[in-house]
This record gives sequence, C-alpha cells and structure tokens, in this order.
Amino acid sequence: MAAPLMSPGPPDSGALGKLATGVRFLIDAPGTVHERFERYGDLYRVRGRPDLFAMRHPDHLYQVLVEQASAFEKKHTAFERLSRVLGNGLLTSDGEVWRRHRRMIQPAFAHARLLGYADVMRDEAELLARSWNDGGLVDMGAEMMKLTLAIVCRTLFSHSAEGQADGVSRAMAALQDTASRPDLLPAWFPDPARARADRAIATLDDIVLGLIRQRREQRERQPGVHDDLLERLLAAEDEDGARFGEREIRDELTTLFLAGHETTAQALTWTWYLLARHPEAEAQLHQELQSVLGGRAPGFADLERLPVTEQIIDEAMRLYPPVYLMARRAAVDVRIGDYEVPAGSEVVMWSYWTHRDPRWFAEPLAFRPERFAGDARARLPRCAYLPFGAGPRMCVGKVFATIEAKVLLATLAQHFRAELTSKRPMGIKPRVTLTPARPMSMRLSRRG
Ligand code: HEM
Repeated sequence: MAAPLMSPGPPDSGALGKLATGVRFLIDAPGTVHERFERYGDLYRVRGRPDLFAMRHPDHLYQVLVEQASAFEKKHTAFERLSRVLGNGLLTSDGEVWRRHRRMIQPAFAHARLLGYADVMRDEAELLARSWNDGGLVDMGAEMMKLTLAIVCRTLFSHSAEGQADGVSRAMAALQDTASRPDLLPAWFPDPARARADRAIATLDDIVLGLIRQRREQRERQPGVHDDLLERLLAAEDEDGARFGEREIRDELTTLFLAGHETTAQALTWTWYLLARHPEAEAQLHQELQSVLGGRAPGFADLERLPVTEQIIDEAMRLYPPVYLMARRAAVDVRIGDYEVPAGSEVVMWSYWTHRDPRWFAEPLAFRPERFAGDARARLPRCAYLPFGAGPRMCVGKVFATIEAKVLLATLAQHFRAELTSKRPMGIKPRVTLTPARPMSMRLSRRG
C-alpha cells in the first residue's frame, strides 16, 4: 500500500487550541465548506487542536461509518452541549453502554409494533387537519413539530407524556438555539447561551424524571398495564440481572424525545416547502392519493401503494437532509482513502454536500422526485444517499420515520394544499437539525 498522502487544507491558523476548533466550526458554515471542497477536493484538513477532517465522498463516508466504524467514537467538539443534555443516551454514547442500550431499545421499533403506530400517526394527523382552516395561516415548521412530538408521546410512552408536550417542545426549542454550538467559553465565564441551555435542560429533567417516577408508582399499584418503551426500559435486565438506573432511563427518554420528533418534523416541513414551489410534483402527489386512497385515511397496508409520495419525501430529504452532517472522533490512527487521520482528530461527514454532488445526482439542485423511481436508489454508489446514516450507528427510528412521514403527508395532503406566503427562497439554518432560516409561513386551502 502506498504511503498516506498529506491531506490538503487551508493554511495553519495557529494553535488557538479548542477555542480555535470551536470558532472554526461556526465559521465553517455549509457555504464555506462547499468552497473548500471545491478548492481542496473531497477531503480536507483544518489544523487546530484537535485537527478536523471534512469529507463528502461516499467512499470516505462508507469507510468511517461502516468499514472502520469501530475506529471512531461519537464524541465531537460540535456536540459537546448536546452530549451534556443527552448523556449516555443512544445517540451520544459509545462502546458497551451503547451496545446494551441499542439491544434494549431496538424491539420498540419491531415490525409488529410499527403496524399499531401507523394508526396512531394517522389519527394524530386527522386531529391536526381538523384544527386547520381553509385560508388559515400557519407556521408549518411549528405545526409539524407539534404533530411529531404528540406521536412520539403516544407511541413510545403511551399517553403518559401527552400533557407534557408543551413543556417538552419549549425546552427543545431553547436547546435548538444553543445545543449545536460548541462551548467556546470556559465554564466559569458567564455565558447567556449556556445559561439558557441549562434552564432548558432543568425543565426537561423535571418532566422526564417526573414521568419515570409516576410510571414506577403506577407499576406498583397496577403491574402490567402498560406495554411501551418506558415499560421496557424499567423492566429490562441485562445478563447479570442489573436494571437501568434512573439516570440511564432519563438519558434514553430525552434522546428519543429529541431524535424522535424533530428530524421527521424537519423532513415534512421541507417537503411542504418543495411541494409549494413545484406544482407539477404536487399535482402528481394528489393524483396518487386520489386514485389509491380516494379520500380515505391511509392504513399501514396502503403505504406500499404510494410510490410517488415516497419519492417526494426521499427527494426532499436529499436536498434538505434533517441530519445534514455526521461527526466522529478517531479513537486510533486510521487511514481514510489516501489520507492518514491521526487518533484524536475529528471527522465531519457533510452528507448535505454528498447529496448535492453532480457526480451522484444529475442537476443536483433540481427537485426531481422521479430520480428515486424504481430501483434507482440501489444503483447509487453506497453512502451517496444517507439521510438516516449508515453502519452500526444508523438511525434506530428509520422505519418508524419512513412510515410516519408517509402517513402524515398522505393524510394531511388529502385535506389541504399549502402555499408559501413569501416568494423569497428559504435559506437554511444549520442547527441540531437543518432548520428553515425563517418561519415557514404558509396559507392553507382546503381541497375540494
Ligand atoms: C426523517 C427522520 C429521521 C432522520 C432523517 C434521522 C436521521 C438519523 C441519522 C442520520 C442518524 C445517525 C447519526 C450518526 O451516525 O451520527 C440517526 C440516529 C438515531 N436516530 Fe434518527 N432520524 C430520523 C428519525 C428518528 C426517529 C423517529 C427516531 C426515534 C423514534 C430516531 C432515533 C434515533 C436514534 C436513537 C439514533 C442513534 C442511533 C445509534 O447511535 O444507535 N430517529 N438518525
């Protein structure tokens, strides 16, 4: 094997340590990242403490996420605050802790359960549609967030969390503002953003710990009444008969609250945006819904007969992947492509730019759902399209989210069309998820 090459990258900006890494991450907004890829190639290195390797080539992503996944950890400067909130939850933990939790949580997403969840999703969408008015103005992002949060509360925590949805969503919004920013200031320095995040975490903790205690009391009074994820976490034992502690359950519930609603909500918000800007795709969607469902709400069995609906969602997640980058830290020295990635370096995989690369997607900026027709996806290079990630850390809620997005869009779009109130293209605000730069203000019109 040839000796590894020195990775190209911008000139050394000096050893400003962790501060420099944090600042760089903020400056490395998607636009800057794209310019750098164009200038230095598919992989570039930004020196600092630690060094940061930015990547976009599907082969490199495959190596980090799949082939050499065990050489990387989830720890990353950019997600320090998020990790503080989510603790050892599935999204942010590593090693044996992660493996044990994944084994316990996976069954909540088994096929048989998803059948029942589809009905809950449809009922919640019908409920939302009944609250919408012909000619009404909505912030579509907020509507989708409310809807998907209610669904997580009902499916994973069987109603127990329903009364808490408002509190959770307010805390989540406060976290969004700060969680994806690295901690740039030392802990002793007064930082209003950190104080806001701390208050949001405290609110969430009150809600989540309250839910756990309430359920424990219920179980003592009436054992076996609930059969949901919370029950599973409380009852689960590992090989030595040890149970999850309160802290572990808290981390997992908080993770699923966050990971389980915001991503799907963003996928749907961007889908409504793209449909409003592409009337021909919207007409095709409506034609499919009309001919397959004819005004009826969709059930699980209908989903495979809605290929256009699915292609529209897939294409929306190509252009606006809710998780627009994935990050890792190298635990050991690794070779990625021709380049050496030393232990301790951080890797940022910009799937946002992989999805917008003309080498894999012709006219990448065009919204063309038909590019996902038939077996087109299978013909793409591996890791060229990865809205749910890849490898062992692939999204545990992938099938849940796929069903959810389809059921919600199929139900709501049968009742309403949504038009943008502004013709100005919507910019992006890359936070924990890919958020619209301003509220997605839309006017609803009831379908005849
Ligand atoms: C359209 C919706 C969704 C998208 C685009 C999405 C995307 C992703 C991606 C890209 C990852 C991998 C991150 C990485 O490798 O760094 C991930 C992980 C994860 N997702 Fe999702 N997700 C969605 C919905 C959901 C739902 C509905 C749930 C739960 C109800 C969920 C729970 C999780 C969890 C717990 C992980 C961590 C898995 C692990 O590391 O073992 N996600 N998601």
